[in-house]
Amino acid sequence: MEIIIQPTYARLAEVAAEIIRDALLKKPNLVLGLATGSTPIGVYEALVQMHRTDRLDFSNVTTFNLDEYVGIPPDHPYSYHTFMRTHLFNLINIPVENYHIPQSTVVGHAEFCERYEAAIVDAGGIDIQVLGIGRDGHIGFNEPSSSLGSRTRIKTLTRGTLEANASHFGGTVDTVPKMAITMGVGTIMEAKQCLLLASGGPKAEAIANAVEGPITAEVPASVLQMHPRAVVIIDDAAASQLKRVDYYKQVYANKLELLSRDG
Ligand code: F6R
Repeated sequence: MEIIIQPTYARLAEVAAEIIRDALLKKPNLVLGLATGSTPIGVYEALVQMHRTDRLDFSNVTTFNLDEYVGIPPDHPYSYHTFMRTHLFNLINIPVENYHIPQSTVVGHAEFCERYEAAIVDAGGIDIQVLGIGRDGHIGFNEPSSSLGSRTRIKTLTRGTLEANASHFGGTVDTVPKMAITMGVGTIMEAKQCLLLASGGPKAEAIANAVEGPITAEVPASVLQMHPRAVVIIDDAAASQLKRVDYYKQVYANKLELLSRDG
């Protein structure tokens, strides 16, 4: 794993956006896997800024979102469809037919999940998958105990996840949808590169478990230790429970030095 530790959330968002921009400049028909939640918002803001000021072109980009709550319509104010349109899709030049978000109101969820997986394959696979992490170590909505080989399917959300999202649904866990469609851990692992983002002290334990703990279904993000191109981009607070902070910082400083020497 490559561990990039930045002093602030703003810097980690910029670093992640720069990785995506550089990949997009090399491959205009980039396939992106996207996450919702508070963590990637700064990354999307930076990409929108690059689109506006540097004309970063999303017209040939295809995207697949990780997840969506079951049973809420796409135009619900707290659906992930609304989130993505508000924070990214309506602000860049991506054609509407190029972005994909699980449709959680469909009849026949199992068939939908199979079609979603097939669409990712048809697009050539995901080049870069953006991930946040739950305090319990979940990625997508793959809660602890999810099979590390799982595919896109419906998952029941844990009480902790319901509580974390309650503020969006009137403040009580009773009003939060209890299930979500999510890409599986196995689906995520097939992305060519994964960017795991985390900010703030409340994520420090999950990051320590994911990066330095054993690989276990109890911490789904820990499987990224097996991914050949997993990049963990975090701020100092989220890094605060890692044992090897100085080493990770040295590795990254050396990489930047080599890159600057190569021009
Ligand atoms: C959302 C998703 C989730 C979040 C995670 C962290 O699409 O996949 O795994 O990334 O719950 O959420 P935030 O960023 O709000 O702390």
